[in-house]
Amino acid sequence: MSSCSSSQVDRQRVHRMQEAVSLVSLLVLGSAGTIQGSVHVVPHAPTHSQEDFDLSRFMGQWFEAAVVSTCPHYMQRKRGNPVIVAVQLQHVASESNFTMTATTIRNGSCKQTSTVYGLTNTPGRFFHHVARLGADVDSQVVRTNYDEYAMMLLLSTEKPSGNKTTIVKLYSRTKDVSPAALDDFQTLVRRHGMSEDTIITNQNKGDCAAGEPLTEPTSQPRPPA
Ligand SMILES: *[C@@H]1O[C@H](CO)[C@@H](O)[C@H](O)[C@H]1NC(C)=O
Ligand SMILES: *[C@@H]1O[C@H](CO)[C@@H](O)[C@H](O)[C@H]1NC(C)=O
Ligand SMILES: *[C@@H]1O[C@H](CO)[C@@H](O)[C@H](O)[C@H]1NC(C)=O
Repeated sequence: MSSCSSSQVDRQRVHRMQEAVSLVSLLVLGSAGTIQGSVHVVPHAPTHSQEDFDLSRFMGQWFEAAVVSTCPHYMQRKRGNPVIVAVQLQHVASESNFTMTATTIRNGSCKQTSTVYGLTNTPGRFFHHVARLGADVDSQVVRTNYDEYAMMLLLSTEKPSGNKTTIVKLYSRTKDVSPAALDDFQTLVRRHGMSEDTIITNQNKGDCAAGEPLTEPTSQPRPPA
């Protein structure tokens, strides 16, 4: 098994281990110690962050609608549970980091974890370190219009092997994604050498708060597009 299998940015791994609390503290400690170093991270691909990136507008509620990764095991795991992950981003003004709280459904119950992302000198570019796996993760907001979609590029480097994984994610403010945003996302995925056919589109399996039983999605008709 390559180490990306046991790896890194996928917080759902944390859920499976049922040890969210202790791991979260590891993540927090890890990122606190490495924010400085992030300034020197070299991108794997010459992708630019969203111009004039506005962190405060990027905060708040998102849904992880689609994802693709160069790591086969990551993809396999995601395909096994392709549910929309609700993501809450919170930034305390004056702090050089923000917290991502992710809530998802696994095996019929709701799980929540949080990760601290350090800000870098480049707006729209963040850094965190997954201590348990020795992975440095360089994340950037490639494109966002803040009130509909955001496209994230995550480059994870495992130490000491130096193995790199690329993950591209599409976030949406609602559980539905516009065809235009999905189209842009496919272009970005191709640009990073991955096939758009491998994109995993997450499904809405209901809402939940951490630790609470699952609320089934209601089958209300959607308003016309
Ligand atoms: C690094 O990646 C290669 C190719 O995916 C894999 O064969 C190797 O086992 C990985 N090394 C480590 C230490 O995970
Ligand atoms: C977040 O940043 C502040 C300084 O801006 C620092 O005091 C705090 O320890 C950081 N928190 C974490 C969890 O890294
Ligand atoms: C999923 O739930 C079932 C029934 O509650 C349990 O037997 C099984 O071990 C669970 N699987 C995982 C991966 O947690």
